[in-house]
Amino acid sequence: IPVDTFDLVIFGATGDLARRKILPGLFRRYCSGQMPAEAQIIGAARSDMDDGAFRDLVRSAIEEFAGSAAGDADQVEAFLGQVHYEPVDAKGESGWEALKSHMRDHAVRAFYFSVGPSLFGDLAERLRTFGLATPDSRIVVEKPFGHDLESARALNRELAQYFDETQIYRIDHYLGKETVQNLMAVRFGNVLFEPLWNAQFVDHIQITVAETVGVGGRGGYYDSSGAMRDMVQNHLMQLLCLIAMEPPARFEPDSVRDEKLKVIRALDPVEPHHIVRGQYTADEKQPGYRAHVENERSRTESFVALKAHVSNWRWAGTPFYLRTGKMLRGRTSEIVVAFKDAPHSIFGAEAGRHRNELVIRLQPNEGMTLDVTIKEPGPGGMRLVDVPLDMTFADALGPDADMPDAYERLIMDVIRGNQTLFMRGDEVEAAWAWTDPMIDGWERRGDVPKPYDPGSSGPEDALMLMHRDGRRWRDIK
Ligand code: BG6
Repeated sequence: IPVDTFDLVIFGATGDLARRKILPGLFRRYCSGQMPAEAQIIGAARSDMDDGAFRDLVRSAIEEFAGSAAGDADQVEAFLGQVHYEPVDAKGESGWEALKSHMRDHAVRAFYFSVGPSLFGDLAERLRTFGLATPDSRIVVEKPFGHDLESARALNRELAQYFDETQIYRIDHYLGKETVQNLMAVRFGNVLFEPLWNAQFVDHIQITVAETVGVGGRGGYYDSSGAMRDMVQNHLMQLLCLIAMEPPARFEPDSVRDEKLKVIRALDPVEPHHIVRGQYTADEKQPGYRAHVENERSRTESFVALKAHVSNWRWAGTPFYLRTGKMLRGRTSEIVVAFKDAPHSIFGAEAGRHRNELVIRLQPNEGMTLDVTIKEPGPGGMRLVDVPLDMTFADALGPDADMPDAYERLIMDVIRGNQTLFMRGDEVEAAWAWTDPMIDGWERRGDVPKPYDPGSSGPEDALMLMHRDGRRWRDIK
C-alpha cells in the first residue's frame, strides 16, 4: 500500500548511513510500490553539488547496497528522477531558501537528521526560522542520542523548543528489524507463552548481540563511546524491554512506550561485580582494538556482559544476562528464555535434568527454537532427551517473504506518522540514567577492560558471570 506523498529531506545525505541504509532502503520501497510517484527525496549536505552529481552518488549506493533490486536499470533511473540535492549550511544561512522552494503544501514533510547530535539543535532551529517546518512536519534523529543523561536531556530540551514530542522520531534501528517486532507478535499473539512469561516459570533470560566485525573505520566515534553506550543503552535495552514489558492495551505508540519505560525504571542498579568489560587483542591476521582506535592506552570496552534485575512482581528473582561485543566468534543475535525445571520429576534422578528453552534468533537464520523434552526412543527404560521444535522464517514463510531492512520499515512509519517503533524522550533518558552509573563507576575506579582473543566468546570472566550462578551462556556460533 503506497504511503501518502512526501518530501523527505536527508541532512547528511552524502554520509555513510545515507549511502548504506537510507537511500538504498528508499529505493527498495520504491520498487515495492510503496513510495508514490510524486514523492521527493532531497539530499542536503555541505558539499556543493548539483542534482546530477548527487544522483550519481545515489546510483552507486543502490548498486552497492540495494541487493538484487539494483539490477533493474529502468527502475533505478525512474527512482533517481524523484531525487534532488541542495547544498545547505547547517550552521549558517546559505541554502535554506533554496531548500524551502522544494517543499509542497500537500506533501508530508519529513527531515532526517543523519548527522552527529551536535547539529541537531542548529537544524531544528533553522527549519523553524526559515519556515520549512509545519505543525505536521516530522524530524528523524539518529543515535547516539547524547553521550549520557545530561547531554540527552539537553538535546531533548533543545529539540522541544522547536518541535512537539509527537513530531520527533528517535531511531533505534533494532526496533525496525522484523524479528524484533516478532518478539511482540510471539508474546502477545499466542496464548501459549504469556502465562509462563514470569519469574515463577522463567529461570533466566539471555540476550546476546555478538558481532564478528571490529570497530573498523569508526575508531574515533567508538573510542569515546564503547559497547555500553553504543549497544547496551539502546539496542540491548530495547530487546530487554520487549521481553520484559507488560502487555500494552493496544499496539499504539504511547501504550507500548509507557510499558517499555516502566521496565527501564524497574531496573536495579547493576552491582560492579555483575559487569564484565572486555577489549579485543590482536592476532596474526589483524591489529587489536587499540591499534584500530589509534590509542595504545585506550580503556574503552569493545565487549560487555552484565547481569540485570527487573524489580517488579513479574520478574523478581529472574536475572537478565546481557552481552554484546565486537570481533567475536560469530555474528549471532539471539534471546534465550530459559524455563525452570518441571516441579517434580516422576522419572527419577537417572532421567537427568531437562529444561525447556525458547531461543529467538534475531539474526542471522531468523527464527525460533523451542527445546522440548521427549523420551529417547529405545527399549532401555525411560530416558529423556531434549529436542528442538525448530522454525526458521525462510522455511515457514518462503524465501521470498518480504523482509524489509529495518530502515525501510522505519522511514515508511515516519511518513505514516506512526511512532510506535521510535523511542520517546523520557525512555532515552531513563536508559541513560541506568547506564550512566556503570560508566561513571569504571571511570572512577580506573577500570581496565579484560583482554579477549578475536574470534572468541569474549573474556573468560563473562562465562564465569553465569557459571557462578550454575548457568551457562548458549554458545556463540
Ligand atoms: C549500530 C552500532 O547502532 O549497530 C554498531 O553503532 C553496530 O557499532 C550496529 O555494529 C549493529 O547493527 P546490526 O543491524 O548490524 O546488528
